[in-house]
Amino acid sequence: MRKDFLWGGATAANQCEGGWQEGKRGMALVDVIPYGENRMPVMEGRMDYRELPADSIYPGREAIDLYGHYKEDIALFAEMGFRCYRFSLSWSRIFPTGEETKPNEEGLKFYEALIDELLQYGIEPVVTICHFDIPLNLVDKYGSWRNRKVIDFYLNYCDAVFRYFKGKVRYWITFNEINMLMHLPFMGAGIRFEQGENELAVKYQAAHNELTASAYAVKLAHEINPEYQVGCMLAAGSVYPYSCRPEDVWESMKRDRENYFFIDVQARGEYPAYAKKLLEQKGIQLEMGPWDTRILKEHTVDFISLSYYNSRCVRADGQGEASGGNVFASAKNPYLECSQWGWPIDPLGLRITLNALYDRYQKPLFIVENGLGARDEPDENGRIADDYRIDYLKAHILAMMDAADEDGVDLIGYTPWGCVDLISATTGEMSKRYGFIYVDKDDKGNGTWKRVRKKSFFWYREVIEANGENLR
Ligand code: BG6
Repeated sequence: MRKDFLWGGATAANQCEGGWQEGKRGMALVDVIPYGENRMPVMEGRMDYRELPADSIYPGREAIDLYGHYKEDIALFAEMGFRCYRFSLSWSRIFPTGEETKPNEEGLKFYEALIDELLQYGIEPVVTICHFDIPLNLVDKYGSWRNRKVIDFYLNYCDAVFRYFKGKVRYWITFNEINMLMHLPFMGAGIRFEQGENELAVKYQAAHNELTASAYAVKLAHEINPEYQVGCMLAAGSVYPYSCRPEDVWESMKRDRENYFFIDVQARGEYPAYAKKLLEQKGIQLEMGPWDTRILKEHTVDFISLSYYNSRCVRADGQGEASGGNVFASAKNPYLECSQWGWPIDPLGLRITLNALYDRYQKPLFIVENGLGARDEPDENGRIADDYRIDYLKAHILAMMDAADEDGVDLIGYTPWGCVDLISATTGEMSKRYGFIYVDKDDKGNGTWKRVRKKSFFWYREVIEANGENLR
């Protein structure tokens, strides 16, 4: 692995920060996504959060209170030897309603303190500008990303943070898992559907608005600081054909394109032919601004970041068992074991996915999420021996190293997800843990928030120190 490889960890404000009423922060999407049976309908945009029962629990409001614990958490990251830390900004902490012309100074100061803390340990900040996060006011008043006006609000926010953190931050990611908006439109992009409307058309319009905003953000970032490296982010995982039947192979190609579509635009700068045809066939006419095509073309991303949890699989006949626990519809792959939440485990799939992306785009890649969500049970001394997590990570790191060292994929870094335990995005549970650091809190929000180093903490420290070579 290259000597300057960025080993680190990743979190996002919506799932760890908490402090929802601190520092003049405005209400955000995450504050109204409940725990329990109503979570999915709300995240899918089929249930209005304003109709939720009064006793609903909202785990994101407090989360693991990184807001109050960031110094302690960063000290632990430093102890593991992190070279970078990926986190996201809460938009409504900086622009409480999203409509202000001037940023909330307190919000900027909080992130400045956090970034300074990182820099003091020599940890490179990797900042996601929008991770399943939008001021609630923009959702209720403008319909969120379905509305072009939100592009301007987003750029106003980008402008503020690109200027304020100039000289301190180098890596920016415009939208987390941009393709998630096709699957969980409210969680991914604040989209709620009206009865009877053409949902696919709404989703593609929101996608176009985000893609355009992302390209404008690249332009703005480079104008403010030519050193800035701006990336897109894909919820990745190659789609395998269930068999070598040509129909299955064709179906897998189509499924891959549903995801590649976003990166094709962000990395190559234009709508691919298959996407234009699809929109035509579905009778979808996008509302476009006069400069959109040019902006998309001229301001492509510097790197491509991705999350990888598993590969996907498809059968053309739609028969057979479905893969469990996944918002991306997938057939069950009989060759793979699954996690406790039914997510397939496929380390070689990471190597396959990295190669597919690098072949297609020839831009540097950055793995900004990967990991195993699992239940951890502290023993009577409070220790957590998470060998299952170590096994998962070891296999994936080796696959990543093969992609870099054997196949020549240009890789910037690796930041496993939820390096400190946090709230699960899909389930809202605390018990679905990814971290090297245990946080004493349960699904109902009870606990002390105490941080405990797991066995994987010490293991990952050795991996970083040896630049991964100790695993071979
Ligand atoms: C990705 C997201 O989808 O996967 C994260 O970017 C999320 O926000 C992660 O937490 C893992 O998913 P989950 O549902 O296990 O939290």
